Amino acid sequence: MKNSTKPIDDATPLDDIPGLKLPLNKVYTIQEIYVHEANNIALATLKYLSAPPSKKLAPFTYEWFSTLHKDMFGDVWNWAGKFRQVELSIGIKAYQIPTFLKELADDIAYWDENQTFDIYETAARIHHRAVQIHPYQNGNGRWSRMLANIYLLQHGSMPVKWQEDLLSKENPKRDKYIQALKSADSGDYFNLIEIHKITY
Ligand SMILES: Nc1ncnc2c1ncn2[C@@H]1O[C@H](COP(=O)(O)OP(=O)(O)OP(=O)(O)O)[C@@H](O)[C@H]1O
Ligand SMILES: [Mg+2]
Repeated sequence: MKNSTKPIDDATPLDDIPGLKLPLNKVYTIQEIYVHEANNIALATLKYLSAPPSKKLAPFTYEWFSTLHKDMFGDVWNWAGKFRQVELSIGIKAYQIPTFLKELADDIAYWDENQTFDIYETAARIHHRAVQIHPYQNGNGRWSRMLANIYLLQHGSMPVKWQEDLLSKENPKRDKYIQALKSADSGDYFNLIEIHKITY
């Protein structure tokens, strides 16, 4: 890592970033990488959210979960759409990821068929389960929020206005969002469901 005497912040140029697909003729700052990620995600947003997505485009199957992650991050990271092999502080054990994601796909199909919950609660539960599993090395938050939005639009609601500055740790809304996810961990979905009703 260059500039080792200076604290690393978003404007610090980084070298040797494993998995980065951007041209190697320069070093990138975290800010620059965010911009590339945001451009990639904008393309995925066009693909899935410019009109209500069909079941064919967005089938909520096990395989498609990773297609979506790759659509969002595949221009920037070579691990996009590939399950992590390492343990993280958030998420289940890496070896359990396929089993749990298959179970989530099955549950979504069941919830849809039986109308177990209303669409906001279903979107909230998809979002929460996806982020609890945390299948990928990074981008799990943005991917799970995209899943919720695709589900909402596919089922007649507008997408949630996430204000992707949720990325930023300084966003006061982020605390509320993280707290709502934590309540959902203990089975209380109320706040997370409410967040999914704040649509465009
Ligand atoms: N205690 C927690 N602290 C932070 N994030 C949490 C926590 N619990 C669950 N999460 C989820 O994990 C996500 C962060 O995971 P990851 O870094 O893989 O995703 P990301 O898309 O890069 O993040 P971001 O939310 O910053 O866009 C958060 O967005 C949130 O959905
Ligand atoms: Mg992240």
